Amino acid sequence: MEEANIQQNQQKDVDEFELKRKELWEKRILLEKKFNLYEGDEFQKINGFEYLRTKTIAVLLRCLGLYKKGQFNASKINLRKIKFVYPDIPKELHGFKILFVADLHLSQTYLSWFISGASILQQIKTPVDLILLGGDYRFGYFGPEDFVIPMIKEMFEPVESKYGIYGVLGNHDISSVRENFEEVGIHILVNEGIEINHNGAKLWIAGVDVQHGFECADVASSIVHAPKDAFKIMLSHSPELIEESLLWGVQLYLCGHTHGGQIALPLLGPLYVNAHCKRKFASGKWEYREMKGYTTTGLGTTDVPVRFNAEPEIVMIDIVKIPYDLK
Ligand SMILES: [Fe+2]
Repeated sequence: MEEANIQQNQQKDVDEFELKRKELWEKRILLEKKFNLYEGDEFQKINGFEYLRTKTIAVLLRCLGLYKKGQFNASKINLRKIKFVYPDIPKELHGFKILFVADLHLSQTYLSWFISGASILQQIKTPVDLILLGGDYRFGYFGPEDFVIPMIKEMFEPVESKYGIYGVLGNHDISSVRENFEEVGIHILVNEGIEINHNGAKLWIAGVDVQHGFECADVASSIVHAPKDAFKIMLSHSPELIEESLLWGVQLYLCGHTHGGQIALPLLGPLYVNAHCKRKFASGKWEYREMKGYTTTGLGTTDVPVRFNAEPEIVMIDIVKIPYDLK
């Protein structure tokens, strides 16, 4: 009898999370319709303030003679290699390799970061275990988004990934692009997770829908079904779910969204990071209690296609167990 009750409760939990997931997806679609994101072009802005801000920055940079330099900086993609060290993970996970790219912001007008990024990826000859994409696949907010699919396919085709490609959506993406991604074998996680069995060790890849601007993320739904002994990775577009993810036992949090400020001043740092998070989470490697994380500056740019002191990047992550022989 007791066992039956437990099973019934578990079923109820599953249904509740499924319901929440569906509700949030519908909320997202309603917001997309409200802002009419399906029509227009990549230069259309969300509001008058955004339009004015973009124009002012562009004019200012041109007057200072810095615009072309900024464009050059935005086109020079780096391959950033980083390691995350964990003492308490199964030794089978030592050397697990993740290629992580966010904020691709592919454009039909500005092609330089696509060309530079594709060239870097072509040079990666060693297979990786997993490719993770952190959202914001297009430059603008408006119009159909399916044009990004052939570009992403072309970019990532040269890289061999043992467990495929998974991604999440960003605040520039529309829900309909999810199907287009599926057609080319790229799985977009929407408040859900997948389990990977790597040589007998388990990994759980949780992927949340976007919090920034949409408030459609549900950390609980993305991670509730993770096996207790799995190494838990959270893929989120923005760093705005760090505290909540820690409560769910996430060990590695990967995100982007901030572009490292896109324009940062020497010594003072970014002028604006566009995220509700502590400054230390806005760029690069960080730790929050037992959780480790990385906020990438991203591949592309938005609004004004320039960067200063916020180099664009493709990130290669190595999971390392030290000391190796403990377990
Ligand atoms: Fe972005």
